[in-house]
Formats: sequence, C-alpha cells, structure tokens
Amino acid sequence: MTDSHAPRTALYPGSFDPVTLGHEDIARRTLKVADRVIVAVAHSSSQSREAAFPVEDRLDMLREVFADEPRITCVSFEGLLVDYARREGAAFVVRGLRAVSDFEYEFQMAQMNREMCPDMEFIFLMPDAHLSFLSASLVREVARLGGSVDPFVSPPVLRRLTARFGRGPAAGNTGAPAAGGTAGDTG
Ligand code: PNS
Repeated sequence: MTDSHAPRTALYPGSFDPVTLGHEDIARRTLKVADRVIVAVAHSSSQSREAAFPVEDRLDMLREVFADEPRITCVSFEGLLVDYARREGAAFVVRGLRAVSDFEYEFQMAQMNREMCPDMEFIFLMPDAHLSFLSASLVREVARLGGSVDPFVSPPVLRRLTARFGRGPAAGNTGAPAAGGTAGDTG
C-alpha cells in the first residue's frame, strides 16, 4: 500500500531535441496524475549522434518553456533511465504515445526497463489530437529546410531554431543536416 499523501513524482525522459508543443502537452497532462514532473534529457539516446542541439541547450529551452510551472523540473541525466528514476524516487515513468507506430518502440523499451526494474511503472499519455503528427525530428527537418515551425514550438524554442538554422530559404540556411524521423523520436 502506498502512502496516499506522499507527493507522486513522475519522470518524463526523452531527447527533447528540441522540446515541441507535443512534449509540452504531455508534461502538463502528467500533472493531472502526478504532483510533480521531472522532465529529463538523456545524455545518450538513439538520437544523440545526430542531435541538433547540445544537451545543455535542450535543457535551457525546457527550462524556459516550463518557467511558468513550478511543479515541472527540468534536468539531464546520464546512464540508465531506470537507475535515475529509482534515485529520484519516481512513482512512474511517463512517455507520449501519438499513434500505433510509436507503440512497438515504446513497448520494447518499457519491457526492457521492466526487466531491469520490475517495480517501476510505465504510463503512456496521448497528446492532444492536433499534436499527434508532431515530432522533434520533423521540426528539425522543416526548420533546417527553411519552413515555418512557429505552430509547433514555443517562442524560446523558435528563437533557438532560428539561430541554429536561419529563417526561411532566403536566410541562407546552412545548418548541418538534421536527422530524419526515426522510430525513437516519440515526441
Ligand atoms: O525522445 P527519445 O529519443 O525517444 O527518448 C529515448 C530515451 C531517452 C527515453 C531512451 O533512449 C532512454 O531511456 N535513454 C536512457 C538510457 C537507457 O536507459 N537506455 C535503455 C532504454 S531500454
């Protein structure tokens, strides 16, 4: 039996390269089932080799985006997610599930994590339907190719994307090629 008065901490891990409105939606929704959310940028993930932003920049963006919400803390972590979740006393790990196509990757990760940490729970939340097509990799690609990503990210993220990739083809878009969509980019 758990102490019903103990604050429940949820851990929301990911690459957040960069944080999109879809990620924001999931983090804020998580506050409906947890007292506090730790949004945690993984130092190493399937995305890290092709990352557009260093972990420190991703963290800065997250902190700006969630500056209005004291119940959301943004951190980075190294090593295994389950070890970090245990250290932080997380009641559960949360991930966004946009479509059936996300399920296989998420299921595989959750099962592996459960093998390593049988007492940790993994919950999946759906973003609002109008965000269900959104991924950080698509945002990176559209920004890199000069498209407008205003509707998909918050202003602090838009500023960084503009600094990184320029604004529109006329701005002389010389950013290094960003990664295409991958199964692992579930935000
Ligand atoms: O946003 P992403 O890239 O889909 O997030 C993937 C992430 C960061 C959740 C995953 O790569 C991860 O948990 N990395 C931490 C290292 C770890 O525990 N790996 C084993 C996962 S089964």
